[in-house]
Amino acid sequence: MSFKTLDDIGDVHGKRVLVRVDLNVPMQDGSVSDATRLAAMAPTVLELADKGAIVLLLSHFGRPKGAKNPAMSLSLVIDAVADTLGRSVMFISDCVGEGAKAGLTVLAPGDIAVLENTRFHAGEEKNDPALVAAMAEIGDLYVNDAFSAAHRAHASTEGLAHVLPAFAGRAMEAELKALERALGSPERPVAAVVGGAKVSSKIDVLRHLVGRVDHLIIGGGMANTFLAARGIDVGKSLCEHDLAGTAEDILSAADAASCTVHLPYDVVVTTEFAANPPSLRTSNVHEVAADEMILDVGPAATEALADVLKTCRTLVWNGPLGAFETPPFDAATVALARTAGALTREGSLVSVAGGGDTVAALNHAGVAGDFSFVSTAGGAFLEWMEGKDLPGVAALLR
Ligand code: 3PG
Ligand code: MG
Repeated sequence: MSFKTLDDIGDVHGKRVLVRVDLNVPMQDGSVSDATRLAAMAPTVLELADKGAIVLLLSHFGRPKGAKNPAMSLSLVIDAVADTLGRSVMFISDCVGEGAKAGLTVLAPGDIAVLENTRFHAGEEKNDPALVAAMAEIGDLYVNDAFSAAHRAHASTEGLAHVLPAFAGRAMEAELKALERALGSPERPVAAVVGGAKVSSKIDVLRHLVGRVDHLIIGGGMANTFLAARGIDVGKSLCEHDLAGTAEDILSAADAASCTVHLPYDVVVTTEFAANPPSLRTSNVHEVAADEMILDVGPAATEALADVLKTCRTLVWNGPLGAFETPPFDAATVALARTAGALTREGSLVSVAGGGDTVAALNHAGVAGDFSFVSTAGGAFLEWMEGKDLPGVAALLR
């Protein structure tokens, strides 16, 4: 994998650099509730600004579907961006045309501006060449630092890379290097943890992984579908019975590829889904009662999984092992994440995690900082785990 980085960008002093970042951050009561993505882009933005570039940040925010929508204006995140960067940041009310050009006139080398939501223009999601050209008109160089939006072939994530000199930002560079280390050319043995509620959303991930990893650890609600496919009665558990055939196909593909699939052999069950319910018990998977539901991997299986990780050199993690938001169904996720964190600290494991609930689960376990790399991406991380080419990345490759 070969792409240009900020090391190759040359003298940027006085140049207008369009930096595609992902300012699509979660909001609560009008303010940013998780600034992880803002922190991720800071090194790129500050490096360029300190070298005297005029830094123009491009991003989408929400899904406004090609129309202006004040509720999805990037002006709402400007204070959080400025706080994270520790600099003053200007807001420009459009990312193209007269509005953009008028804003640009007041910017000097070293200044940073956020341009309004790219998705206010219908051409963004269509990767319309006219919009790409209009964006390119206000910039001299293009930097993509938004791995988490790289699964979208949009004007600002893909199109621009073809019409301006294009470089990967520092966060993009770190993501690509970590992913390459985890599944591209990993040190073996490799384990993957795949959890989450449903098999249906991760069929392609599982299909791809069985041919790539030595150990596939399946947890979360999706493990129930596999258990049921093997003839185990999972009671009232969340289970996609219609996917039994798919689950069997994945298990046979794993067999053929010498990938060991680990399903829980003990589980934590209850008759009602609530925090610390009175009916809570640990059960062998073969003894789940008709009115019980499985909500976590049991302690014996969790210990066995920790032993598996101890034999591995590389780990890719996506999704929690249990219903981790509700105690005590976070126990397996927390325990296994802590084992992975400790092995990484000791230097025996390269651990890469990402996607959806995963970061929240690792933060909850207090080990996100111990992992080798935690991706800021949701959907893009999953598509990468499916073995798909990400258009925003492909456009940067040379
Ligand atoms: C994300 O939040 O996953 C990215 O910013 C992409 O957003 P999208 O799913 O609306 O394209
Ligand atoms: Mg998404």
